[in-house]
Amino acid sequence: MADAVEQAPLEFDPFSDRYFNDPYDLYRRMRDEAPVYFNEQYGFWALFRHEDVVAAHRDWQTFSSSHGVDLSSLNTDPEVIKRYRLIIMMDPPEHNRLRALVNRVFSPRAVGALEPMVREVIRGYLAPFDDAERFDAVADFSGPFPVEIICRMLGVPEGERQQIRHWLDLTLHREPGQMDPTPQGVSASIDMALYYLALTREKRRHPVDDMISRLTQVEVDRGDGAMTGLDDAEIAGFISLLGGAGAETVTKLVGNAVVLFHRHPDQYRKVLADPSKIPAAVEEILRYLPPSQYQGRFSVADAVYNGVTVPAGYPTILVTGSATRDERVYDDPDTFEIDRPASLALGFGYGIHTCLGAALARMESRVAIEELALRWPSLAVDEDACTRVQMSNVAGFSSVPVHRTA
Ligand code: HEM
Repeated sequence: MADAVEQAPLEFDPFSDRYFNDPYDLYRRMRDEAPVYFNEQYGFWALFRHEDVVAAHRDWQTFSSSHGVDLSSLNTDPEVIKRYRLIIMMDPPEHNRLRALVNRVFSPRAVGALEPMVREVIRGYLAPFDDAERFDAVADFSGPFPVEIICRMLGVPEGERQQIRHWLDLTLHREPGQMDPTPQGVSASIDMALYYLALTREKRRHPVDDMISRLTQVEVDRGDGAMTGLDDAEIAGFISLLGGAGAETVTKLVGNAVVLFHRHPDQYRKVLADPSKIPAAVEEILRYLPPSQYQGRFSVADAVYNGVTVPAGYPTILVTGSATRDERVYDDPDTFEIDRPASLALGFGYGIHTCLGAALARMESRVAIEELALRWPSLAVDEDACTRVQMSNVAGFSSVPVHRTA
């Protein structure tokens, strides 16, 4: 594999099978030979080194989020993007004002209080397989549980929560060579938006104790000193972001965890012997196989990296998946080692847009691995039967069949 990559022309295509299946050898070549890269086919720039990715995250004045954060939205009219009203697609000062509305809900302290609920949901998905010889760690477990948790927090009624995940899967899916969603993906995103809008209207009429209801009651400073409430479309946008960001990524992290523990049984043994190592294992999984492989930005001024100018006016992607394997920063970056010294959790992004849900994601992932270790202390993955997703920005598996080994 490495040889084939060495000889192939140096091209990074985030909509290719080569990328979807295993981009890591290619990332190494990009870091060494073209750390600041222009892709002519899709017309984007990309940064591959850790130092450059961190610097670009920090420089939000040059690398704006307001044109979108994936290559499809980055190629859409920015006026359309503005209408989505998503904090992930905003720059300061508007970004700070709106993010502040939900910051408290996701603080480590507030998230700590959710642990009993999170554990109950996670156990509910694992318990039916306690006497089984096999199960699918993603389809049966890490796929359904995170969306259940975030939807409970938001106030999406039971019975409607898994539909959100099916819509999200369709929205994020990309056919090889295609930057934009499929027609099914477009119609799924419309269905989801209409669903959230109707739900918001319902909560405004009949508020209860959940996040959507609370968002119908808050007021925000729009920058002119006047405080106004959020309209229904703004709330629908907000919750679609929380629902999406809070579901797909944890699914991928926990699926990746199972595959990595299978490939590195010595690391799984460490977790089994000492569960207090699980938080460190979560950080290493995030570094080794980050669920969100790249963050999109739009350059609004020229910026020079490694002697190469990224000109103003281009979609630019900060390739997290490459940065967290950069040998300039990590010793033996391609070794999966849960006892590795702590480092910047770039897998959650960095700077002003750093993951709002990081504390929740860490807790969900820790509890999932704790419960998995209790119930499946000896496991093997049928790697030939695993299925990878082909998605924009997000990488991981949609199916990881597991069986007991003892
Ligand atoms: C392992 C799981 C997760 C990973 C790997 C992850 C990763 C990320 C990354 C890389 C960003 C930065 C995006 C950018 O810079 O453009 C981000 C932002 C964000 N994440 Fe997460 N995330 C995870 C879980 C969650 C959860 C559980 C939530 C809960 C709601 C969440 C909500 C958000 C939100 C709202 C933003 C946008 C923040 C902003 O723009 O200020 N994420 N996440």
